Amino acid sequence: MQDDGNTFDRRQYLKLSGVAGITVTGLAGCLEGSGDGDGDDDGPEATGENEIIAGTEPGFPPFEMVEDGELVGFDIDHLEAVVDETDYELAGWQELEFDSLIPALENGKIDVIAAAMTINEDRKQRIAFSDPYYSSDQSVLVQSGGGFQPSALEDLADKQIGAQSGTTGEAIVQENLIDEGLIDATDYDSYDSYVLAVQDLERGLRDAVVLDQPVARTFEANRDVEAAFTFETGEEYGLGVRQGDEDLQAALNDGIAAVEESGEYETLTQDWFGE
Ligand code: ARG
Repeated sequence: MQDDGNTFDRRQYLKLSGVAGITVTGLAGCLEGSGDGDGDDDGPEATGENEIIAGTEPGFPPFEMVEDGELVGFDIDHLEAVVDETDYELAGWQELEFDSLIPALENGKIDVIAAAMTINEDRKQRIAFSDPYYSSDQSVLVQSGGGFQPSALEDLADKQIGAQSGTTGEAIVQENLIDEGLIDATDYDSYDSYVLAVQDLERGLRDAVVLDQPVARTFEANRDVEAAFTFETGEEYGLGVRQGDEDLQAALNDGIAAVEESGEYETLTQDWFGE
């Protein structure tokens, strides 16, 4: 299962891919302010046969975020380690809105999604997933030390709620709050980025934000917000690939297993989650 044909020295590989990451981040950063977010013409292109481009949405710490202009995070290190175990080469990263990742995969702009994306049946209608590489639940963030201290979804009735567009957090708001009549559709705001949702929460423009538990914990540590409660969804993250890209899918699965077996996975979780 280990790929012995790999000629890249790992250190050198990381250095090269790090440089690619910075370049892409710079480009995407410029486009973010003015652009339409569809990623047209920005970012790297895979030229060699085994070169792949990864896509992510970087407002999701500690899985993916931009620090000092550089794209970093667990998913970034993890995918690079996984690809390093395969015959493929990671040519660079595209930063896109979360909603644009599946379309970008479908139209060939990117070859793999590494964005803490939950494996689910809806998405499997359009794309294929690797084996799971991380498990998560959902949390509800509120302002730190504020008067609002919900302990269950029912407590969110008639409150102003936020989540990122196209996420499982948004699906929970839709299915458990809007469809159940606990809040009106107008009480819900869909954000391009969880960073913006958390900003509005800090300012008191939202009462609560629903998002993946490890990300809630990171915002809790860095922003004026706290996780009021967590509820079990048992969702699992996978790397997204095009349906029919079975060679890449199989290689990524072997890579995921190899990174786990070598102990590198544990090192990465310690680095990024302190666990
Ligand atoms: N796990 C959630 C989902 O798949 C949220 C992922 C958001 N990821 C991101 N990079 N913004 O819907």
